[in-house]
Amino acid sequence: MEKQKGRRLLLMPSPLQGHITPMLQLAHTLHSNGFSITVIYTSSFTPPHLSSSYPNFTFLSISDALSELEASTSASDPVHLTRLLNVRCVEPLKQCLVTLLKNDDRVACFISDAALHFTQSVCDGFKLPRLVLRTGGASSFLVFASFPLLREKGYLPVQESRLEEPVVELPPLKVKDLPKIETRDPEAFYEFVVQFVEECKASSGVIWNSFEELESSALAKLRQLFSIPIYPIGPFHKHFPEGSTSSSLLTPDTSCISWLDTQEHNSVVYVSFGSIASITKAEFLEIAWGLANSMQPFLWVVRPGLIRGSEWLEPLPSRFMENLGGRGYIVKWAPQEQVLAHVAVGAFWTHNGWNSTLESICEGVPMICSPCFADQKVNAKYVSDVWRVGVKLENKLDREEIEKTIRKVMVGDEGKEIKDNVLDLKEKAKISLKEGGSSYSSLDGLVTDILSLKSSTSEVH
Ligand code: UDX
Repeated sequence: MEKQKGRRLLLMPSPLQGHITPMLQLAHTLHSNGFSITVIYTSSFTPPHLSSSYPNFTFLSISDALSELEASTSASDPVHLTRLLNVRCVEPLKQCLVTLLKNDDRVACFISDAALHFTQSVCDGFKLPRLVLRTGGASSFLVFASFPLLREKGYLPVQESRLEEPVVELPPLKVKDLPKIETRDPEAFYEFVVQFVEECKASSGVIWNSFEELESSALAKLRQLFSIPIYPIGPFHKHFPEGSTSSSLLTPDTSCISWLDTQEHNSVVYVSFGSIASITKAEFLEIAWGLANSMQPFLWVVRPGLIRGSEWLEPLPSRFMENLGGRGYIVKWAPQEQVLAHVAVGAFWTHNGWNSTLESICEGVPMICSPCFADQKVNAKYVSDVWRVGVKLENKLDREEIEKTIRKVMVGDEGKEIKDNVLDLKEKAKISLKEGGSSYSSLDGLVTDILSLKSSTSEVH
C-alpha cells in the first residue's frame, strides 16, 4: 500500500444510474487499496448528495453544455445522451485536465466509462494512460465487439423475419437476443458501439464488473481479440459490507423492508425494471393482473416515468392494491441490494440490466427475465440458457403467461433446479473475491499495473 500512497486516480462515470453505481464502487475499492480518488462528473446530471456519501473523494464538475431540454429528454434515450456527451465534453475535460495535472504530479491514470470514448484522445493528448471500466458483462461486450461481423453476415440490422435464427458465430445467441435500442437515429447506435469498442482497444486495459467463473468463455475470447490486459474484478458491490456505500440517484423507500419482514421466507416476487426502461399502459396492466393472479406476494418498483404517458399509478384500477389484502407492495424506488438479500424474496422479475443481474446472482435469487434493450437481451439469454438461473418471459407481456412463469419459478421442479444453480453461482462469486480467488488476484494485478503505467504528463505540462 505504501507505493500507492498519494497516487491519484481520475475517474469519469457516464451519468446514468447503472453506470455511476459500478464506477463509484470501483473507486471505493481502489481507495481501499491506497489510491486517492477524483471523480469527474458532468454538470447536468450527478446530484450533489453523492459527494457527501463519499467524503474521502474529490468531486469535480465539468460543463456538458447540455440545455435543460437536452438533459431531460436524453435521459430516456441513453445513446443520444452519450453521443452528445462525447462531443460536448471534449473541451471542458481538456481544461479540467490542464489545471489538475499542473497542480498534481501524482496522477497515475484516468479511468473512463467505456461509453465515454472521447476520453481516449483527450488522454492521449496529455500522455495520460487511460483505463476503461465496462459496466456491462463480458459476454454482451463480445457481441458489441462483433457488430461489424454481424452486419457483414446480415444479422444486423435485426429483421423481424429472422428473429428465431441462430447466430452461428456467437452461440447460443439467436437473432432475437442481439442488442437493440430505441433511439432517434438507429445507425448512430451502430456507430457508437463500433467507436466505443475501438477506443477500449486503444486503452491501457479494461476493467470488468464480472468474475472469471461466470464469463470464462467470453473473457477468453476477449483476451484473444484485445492485446491489452483484461481485469475481471467483480462483483464490485461485494468488495465491501452491504450499506457501506450508496450511489442511488433516487431516494430508496425503506418501508418495503418492514413489509418484507412480515412475509414468509422465499415467498415474495420482487419486480423492478431498473433505472431507464419504460413500458406501455397495457403492459403495466398485464403485469399488475399477472402478479395479482399468481397469488404470490410481490414487491413492485414502479418508478415515476416507468409507464409511458403516466405520472405514476394512475392506470391501476381503483382499489386494486386494497383488494389484494396486503399481498402486494409498491414503491417508487427500493433499496435493491437490501431487498434481494432479504430472506422473504424468492424471485426477481428483472429487465436484466447488468447490475441487477449480478446483484441477483450474488444473493442467490432466481430470475424471471424481461429484457428491454441493449445488453439486457444478451444477459437474459445467459441467465436462462447458459447459467440456468432464471426463466425468460418470451413474447409480449400477457397476464396468463406471467402467472404461469411465476409459478414455474416459485413452486415447480424447474424452480428448484434454478435455485440450486443460482446458489452455486453465488458461492463461486464469493470465492472469487477471497484471497487467492480469481477476482482477488485480478484486482492485485490491476493495482500493480496501475503503479507501473507510464504517465508522461509532467513532461507535457
Ligand atoms: C442500464 C442499462 O439499461 C443496462 O442495460 C446496463 O447493463 C446498465 O445500465 P439500468 O436500468 O440502470 O441499466 O439497470 P441496472 O444495470 O440493473 O442498474 C440499476 C441499479 O439501480 C442497480 O444497481 C439496482 O440495485 C439499482 N436500483 C434499481 C435500486 O437501487 N432501486 C430500485 O428500485 C431499482
